Amino acid sequence: MNRRQFLHNSMAAAATGMLAARQASQGQSAPAPIPGSIPPAEIGAVRFPDGFLWGMATAAFQVEGAWNEDGKGESIWDRFCHTTGKIKGAATANVACDQYHLYRDDIAILRRLNQKTYRFSISWPRIQPSGTGTPNTRGLDHYSRVADLLLESGIRPFCTLYHWDLPQGLEDIGGWPNRDLAGYFADYAAILAKHLGDRVTVWAPFNMPWSFTWMGYGVGAFPPGRASYGDFLKAAHTVSLAQGESSRAIKAASARATVGSAYGMAPAYPKSGSEADRAAAERYHAMNNVYFLEAALHGRYPQAFAVPTPFGEMGFRPGDETIMRAPLDWIGFHYYTRRIVSDARPAAHSGGGASFGTEIEEDSGAARDPYTQFRAVMPAEGPLTDAGLEVWPRGIYDLVTRISRDYNHPIIEITESGCSYLDTPYDRERGHVPDSRRIAFFREELTELARAIAGGARVRSFHAWSLLDNFEWADGYSQRYGLTWVDFRDQKRTVKDSGLWYGRVAAANRLDV
Ligand code: FCB
Repeated sequence: MNRRQFLHNSMAAAATGMLAARQASQGQSAPAPIPGSIPPAEIGAVRFPDGFLWGMATAAFQVEGAWNEDGKGESIWDRFCHTTGKIKGAATANVACDQYHLYRDDIAILRRLNQKTYRFSISWPRIQPSGTGTPNTRGLDHYSRVADLLLESGIRPFCTLYHWDLPQGLEDIGGWPNRDLAGYFADYAAILAKHLGDRVTVWAPFNMPWSFTWMGYGVGAFPPGRASYGDFLKAAHTVSLAQGESSRAIKAASARATVGSAYGMAPAYPKSGSEADRAAAERYHAMNNVYFLEAALHGRYPQAFAVPTPFGEMGFRPGDETIMRAPLDWIGFHYYTRRIVSDARPAAHSGGGASFGTEIEEDSGAARDPYTQFRAVMPAEGPLTDAGLEVWPRGIYDLVTRISRDYNHPIIEITESGCSYLDTPYDRERGHVPDSRRIAFFREELTELARAIAGGARVRSFHAWSLLDNFEWADGYSQRYGLTWVDFRDQKRTVKDSGLWYGRVAAANRLDV
């Protein structure tokens, strides 16, 4: 649906929107628009469908703390944090937000903010301390209590099985490039579905599989800190196999289970109208957005490479097509920002100085890749968040519309979206965090999401990242993505103005609240 139709249809239903539109059209002291921003008239007119699931997301390693309690094993992220020089400010997640102990308080915040879905992840080394074998009952009991309390609070538990905290014991036998991990992961998935499947019905095997395989094995900025394209290809292939095997294991253990995904995606726009740049943007989309999705849905990899698909280096074996296949019940993905992509094949840069990059987010210089041969950059046309990501609301519309069209109108869950701004409470005791930029971010982005829904996309949920300020991976505590401010000295939580606003949105299904 184009913007004009969307506005027209929405306004028919919304008198307040009409008023705002009239003011805007009369040009009353309208400030110069921020590039990429959405006109206020559209925001005022937005209505979300009845039953839309408003939610928030976290990940075990980023919020739980209790890193060595109740039988939990060491994860690769524990090891990384405990290694000098890996994390900004020498931060660790030993305590993080202490959600392992404070989960009741956190679920109370979700309830107070009218949330209908909570996406959390389970720590594999809490369940199987070294990655295989008999489950640790105390770990299972913890997540059992979390699931029970969520349901009692009227909140849907959405469980991610793997948000990057691999048991160190499995890294010690080769990590994700070792294809045995696919089977171990399926065993772990079966344990979870058996113990929690009577209450948890929404499962996503992997958070951002491209990111953790690329950053961990291709670039080395994340654990285990390797920088080898071959290791990345192998790790990614094991994860594809694991996705298929775990999906079957979950369904075999729990009849009510639905399985989807939590992919990271960024819409890719070609840098120029040239055929070469367009093709490069498609390679980006294939590698960074839908590589694992195509593996699941079709049992094959999309055309992500400018060279013949390197099956040998992946460790691809006959029959893997069948193992990879997992007909997803719904498709979940995150949106944070966009990319501008250009061709970086050697011929395109015969003058030398070419730089290939699958990703620029942590372009360590090791991130040079002769296979995909594109260059992706994040533009800075729109304003930047405090984490340096460009705010581009339109991106979610383009992404949702494309996934919806390319995969025959699946059910879509937005598994994460958010922004880091460092606003702090100016009155700690009475609790008030005026983070108006975060409200503006969500307001505009959600207007674009509503436009995609009005155009026919079957989006059923939106999970804001994040319920809490938390441990932001290699950035430590230097970024704050939370809708709740956390004082890491004493764990005091203060719901930010954005959280209060989002709570009203969840109650009203509209954005002008
Ligand atoms: C996503 C991750 C999440 C968090 C946000 C800011 O890429 O899934 O854990 O770090 O970014």
